[in-house]
Amino acid sequence: MLPIGPLMIEHRLIEKMIRAMQGRTEIWRREGRIDHELVDEAADFLRVYADKCHHGKEEGILFRELSRKQLSEEHARLMEELAEEHRSARKTVVKMVEAKEEYVLGSRAMLPVILNCMEFMIDFYPKHIEKEDKHFFLPSMDYFTPEETDLMLKEGWEYDKNLIHGLYKEKVDMWSLR
Ligand SMILES: [Fe+2]
Ligand SMILES: [Fe+2]
Repeated sequence: MLPIGPLMIEHRLIEKMIRAMQGRTEIWRREGRIDHELVDEAADFLRVYADKCHHGKEEGILFRELSRKQLSEEHARLMEELAEEHRSARKTVVKMVEAKEEYVLGSRAMLPVILNCMEFMIDFYPKHIEKEDKHFFLPSMDYFTPEETDLMLKEGWEYDKNLIHGLYKEKVDMWSLR
């Protein structure tokens, strides 16, 4: 399997979550409210699965290796664009969580902010994923030898294997600081 195989499988789960988020957000928009526990779950999925696990492997393995190659102008531009999109998704999740915290404390003014963040993600991910699946991932593999793609695939498995341990170590460290 190529290292883009697991990334494309992960895209399917992100798409499924985005569809679920869309259904929920449409209801909230109509009813003028949110379910803050579901917003927490969406934020957790976006932060841990979509960002740490998925973007983590894209940037930390695939983009890192590609940046060592002589990329075409188009591929270099696309890679920078994709990384910039990851950064804007990351910022939107932070903004959504902050707004949700104020909403829970009684600030109704935060409702449109939360809904706008959800809608940003709903609009963003399908386009971002299509760009990667249809225009970037496959051509990016041409820069590597089969040995190099094998190494990246193995590094991806290793990254996933260590992820949960790192996450909980971080949580324990936070607890110890309290
Ligand atoms: Fe991405
Ligand atoms: Fe992706």
